[in-house]
Amino acid sequence: MARKAAHSNKAYKFFRSLKRRGTLRTFLVTLSYCYDYLFDMKHKIDTYSFVELDALGVDEAKKKGALMYQPTHVIPLRKLFRALGIQPGAVLVDFGCGKGKVLLIASEFAFKEVRGVEFSPLLCDIATDNCSKYKARSKTNTVFSIFLSDVLDYGIQDDEDVFYLYNPFDAHILEHVLQNLLASLERRERKIWIIYRYAVDRGLVEEKMNPSKVSDFNLWGFDFVVFEVEQRAAPNHSSAVLNNSGRT
Ligand SMILES: C[S@@+](CC[C@H](N)C(=O)[O-])C[C@H]1O[C@@H](n2cnc3c(N)ncnc32)[C@H](O)[C@@H]1O
Repeated sequence: MARKAAHSNKAYKFFRSLKRRGTLRTFLVTLSYCYDYLFDMKHKIDTYSFVELDALGVDEAKKKGALMYQPTHVIPLRKLFRALGIQPGAVLVDFGCGKGKVLLIASEFAFKEVRGVEFSPLLCDIATDNCSKYKARSKTNTVFSIFLSDVLDYGIQDDEDVFYLYNPFDAHILEHVLQNLLASLERRERKIWIIYRYAVDRGLVEEKMNPSKVSDFNLWGFDFVVFEVEQRAAPNHSSAVLNNSGRT
């Protein structure tokens, strides 16, 4: 019975994708899922399977405003990093890194360090295991760091220049994160990139960060928006400082 329900759910998702994305994109998305499955098998890691919010092992209060774990796909992400051509030696942070998929792929692109912030202890353990297996096989020089933390408690470090978000949380938490980013830019003026996958709150990023360039990508049926912020944004942001809990 449960298996039948799962099958009909998959079929529903497939037809919904056909309607939303069209035949070619649906085909590419399906291929991308297959590639990711094989990617995990090849590297003996686990990034593929989704984890529902209730299984993350975080407090009810923290779950408010969060989204479940589902991974970014390998093929579109590699294409995106290639297209961006970010300078070697950059430091990337994935806000809500889940099982660490983005960190693994970023390590193929000469990042000096990749940092994942994740509030689920279960996912942090899986990410740590995935990263150490991947590093051992790939022999990359990239340093992997996983922080077991709510993004609201993560202190943005001033050597960080590429920030990744796969729609991990709601606008209220995003606003707090952007505020912290602006504070970091005030401490050390620099160019940063914000890569936003499934950018439901893109308007908020544009409003708060005053980007010098906004680029839209659709890669293998997956949407990304990349914001380049060249300098400290205009000073009308300080009025929106949130309290430290960041939640109402
Ligand atoms: C859609 S998944 C993306 C995972 C990963 N970034 C990727 O692209 O493969 C979102 C992740 O954000 C995490 N998350 C949600 N809210 C968070 C918060 N406030 N602090 C830290 N992590 C959070 C979830 O546990 C989940 O793993």
